[in-house]
Amino acid sequence: MKELKRTEEKNNGRYYTPSDMVRFILDTANYCGDSILQKHIIDNSCGDGAFLCEIVRRYCEIALKKGQSKQQIKQDLEFYIHGIEVEKSEYQKCIDNLNKITELLGSYNIKWDIKNTDALTVQDYNGKMDFVIGNPPYVRVHNLLDYSSVKQFHLTQQGMTDLYIVFYEIGIAMLNKTGVLCYINPSSLFNSLAAKLLRKNLIQNKLLKKVIDLKHKQIFNATTYTAVILLSKEKNDYIEYINGETQQNEILRYNEFYLDGNFYFSNPKNLIKIKNILFRQPEKNIIDVKNGFATLCDNFFIGQFDFDEYTIPVIKSSTGVTAQCFYPYDKNGKYIPFDELIKVPKIKDYYFQNAERLKSRSLENKNIWHIFGRSQGILDTWKNKYAINALIRHIDDIKLTPCPAGVGSYSGLYILTELSFNELKRILFQQEFVDYIQSLGKYKQGGYYTFSSKDLLKYLDYKIIGE
Ligand SMILES: C[S@@+](CC[C@H](N)C(=O)[O-])C[C@H]1O[C@@H](n2cnc3c(N)ncnc32)[C@H](O)[C@@H]1O
Repeated sequence: MKELKRTEEKNNGRYYTPSDMVRFILDTANYCGDSILQKHIIDNSCGDGAFLCEIVRRYCEIALKKGQSKQQIKQDLEFYIHGIEVEKSEYQKCIDNLNKITELLGSYNIKWDIKNTDALTVQDYNGKMDFVIGNPPYVRVHNLLDYSSVKQFHLTQQGMTDLYIVFYEIGIAMLNKTGVLCYINPSSLFNSLAAKLLRKNLIQNKLLKKVIDLKHKQIFNATTYTAVILLSKEKNDYIEYINGETQQNEILRYNEFYLDGNFYFSNPKNLIKIKNILFRQPEKNIIDVKNGFATLCDNFFIGQFDFDEYTIPVIKSSTGVTAQCFYPYDKNGKYIPFDELIKVPKIKDYYFQNAERLKSRSLENKNIWHIFGRSQGILDTWKNKYAINALIRHIDDIKLTPCPAGVGSYSGLYILTELSFNELKRILFQQEFVDYIQSLGKYKQGGYYTFSSKDLLKYLDYKIIGE
């Protein structure tokens, strides 16, 4: 048996599925009613058997209703129900849990087809399964010490990846000609670089059938946002999309939501607008959006100081609050040499008290430790601009703050434009902007959505240059 070595126990990606979600996933896959009899089903990362127990319960209930004998049911459970789990202890728990269920029905000594092995090495089920279901492990592949077995999978060749993507490849290979797969997994599947090939594959092979986006609902005790995804081998052209927060339901053609390699979900009318925004080449001489200062040690560079030399006001873009910033740069954005700065005795003391932590930052330029960790934003300090936060839920959360020449911005974005504050406000303080940000699907805790400088730039360009 080839086991994956892990850096830590938690790297197994073990978040167990609550029973109502298990039932929901089996219902979504249509694993219910008489048609489940004599159908192969597998959970290829079965843990202690959350899915398999419900599967066995459903199977026995239907079989008993149909008047099947205990012997027949025993044979069917051994032949049609399958599982794989790499962890010995979880595998053992799974067998025990399954036995408890069948013992209640008076059936003993079932030889369960549960394999205690690494699913990445198993090929016995390929092309044979009617149903593949589960909650695959969410583990960054770079957290696995030995990921040689991952490398053979072609959907994962895009550098760093997440193990759930590999489980898609394994799961799809297990399906028979009419099989369906239903997983719950991170909604990063919609837009992460690591899942780009997977998205392409799902679209090209017309596998995607339904997406239930759970959005900010936290199913697991983790900061992972998830979606339930249904695939089927029947060659789909449309998907059914369900917004798990509002229950809004849309039928969407592939070319409506698969845009520029990512998945975007909204109603068809909004998706046309999103397409218009995404495919723009913004005119950066008219408008630009950039990231504010990244000192990589804000509590050294930002606050209140007992010296005035080399300080400027600075706006925290995420809150709009002003503070002082120790700014060791000249007006052209060139850094002031250390020897020059420490001619001011208080600055010299300040540096010497904090030298170690300044040096321990992951610096853009390793040899120059007395300045900001990154150079972003510095060349625009002496330009007029507007600071803006990059984390919103509603219109009320938008913080747009004038940031005139000589004032810096950090902890968020800033906009460079000739537009007036009121003109910019009229464009951004609109539900339309919030809808656009939501459909980018970059979920954050507390119901928030984040966006990048590029996302905002394209939107502003679309609104200013023309729709
Ligand atoms: C997210 S948990 C889900 C468990 C179960 N399906 C449930 O929903 O409660 C993922 C499980 O996959 C197992 N696992 C991780 N890597 C695996 C591998 N390469 N092969 C098989 N199982 C694996 C973990 O040990 C863990 O039990």
